[in-house]
Amino acid sequence: MSKLEGKVAFITGAARGQGRSHAVRLAEDGADIVAVDVCADVETVPYPLGTADELAETAKLVEAAGRRCATATADIRSLEQLGAAVDLAKETFGQIDILVSNAGIWSGSSDSWSLDEETWQTMIDINLTGQWKTAKAVIPTMIEGGTGGAITITSSTIGLKATTGNVHYTSAKHGVIGLVRTLAHELAPHNIRVNAVCPTTVNSPMITNDALYSLFRPDLESPSLADAEPGLNDLNLLDVTMMEPAEVSAAISWLVSDDARYVTGIALPIDAGSTAK
Ligand SMILES: NC(=O)c1ccc[n+]([C@@H]2O[C@H](COP(=O)([O-])OP(=O)(O)OC[C@H]3O[C@@H](n4cnc5c(N)ncnc54)[C@H](O)[C@@H]3O)[C@@H](O)[C@H]2O)c1
Repeated sequence: MSKLEGKVAFITGAARGQGRSHAVRLAEDGADIVAVDVCADVETVPYPLGTADELAETAKLVEAAGRRCATATADIRSLEQLGAAVDLAKETFGQIDILVSNAGIWSGSSDSWSLDEETWQTMIDINLTGQWKTAKAVIPTMIEGGTGGAITITSSTIGLKATTGNVHYTSAKHGVIGLVRTLAHELAPHNIRVNAVCPTTVNSPMITNDALYSLFRPDLESPSLADAEPGLNDLNLLDVTMMEPAEVSAAISWLVSDDARYVTGIALPIDAGSTAK
């Protein structure tokens, strides 16, 4: 029997990148999937976000792995939209056992005092408050199920240490670790485990875009990925420029399984040694 056979996983930011990879990996492990994404661009984000076509492609990949997939378009800033996605999950599968709260955005800032208020607020609204709203929307259904469960919330190495260039992202990613630790206390009586994953840079459109390259090479007018690569590589102890999403999915696959039944309240670096550097 596959290790997540009979489980239902609710995954945000599932149209592409890490969220899609988590959906496919957990399906390969035996789970049915509720794949959720905003499927629209967001103001202040300097690269396009996931699309409805990409979310539909995630569903096809889950089905190709032999599991069922329900898709919902929802902005994690909206409790109403998240509530509709939870209702869809209950109607389709009857339960939610696993929450992978992964949706997020990135934008840069030259320094903390030059950052404009809208860019700060949008970041906090999605990368911190949106993660809380996702938990708030899903947890009552997990508790009602009465069979325990597992939650991962995606932080970052930048939730464990700081760099320059993205104070709002750094603040939100530190904040979700507080959310994780609190939820671990609150949900332990229900046998629901809650952990953060903290990846170093991962190969996704959040990294492979011009604004991110400029963060690493502010001296160049139009830097390319090749220009940014030495700086990206220098973040890590191990020789890697960007991990692949599957590396993070493998950690989540373990964290949400019974193999990690006594692991809760941790912030797990998956980081090529970045936080040790
Ligand atoms: N890529 C990295 O280097 C890296 C490193 C550490 C942590 N992270 C975090 O990993 C998570 C996944 O990022 P990724 O690398 O796959 O990037 P990505 O941009 O490829 O994927 C993010 C997904 O989240 C969706 N999304 C964004 N805002 C949303 C909202 N308000 N509501 C619903 N969905 C929304 C996007 O449409 C997109 O499909 C994010 O939380 C990110 O902060 C990324």
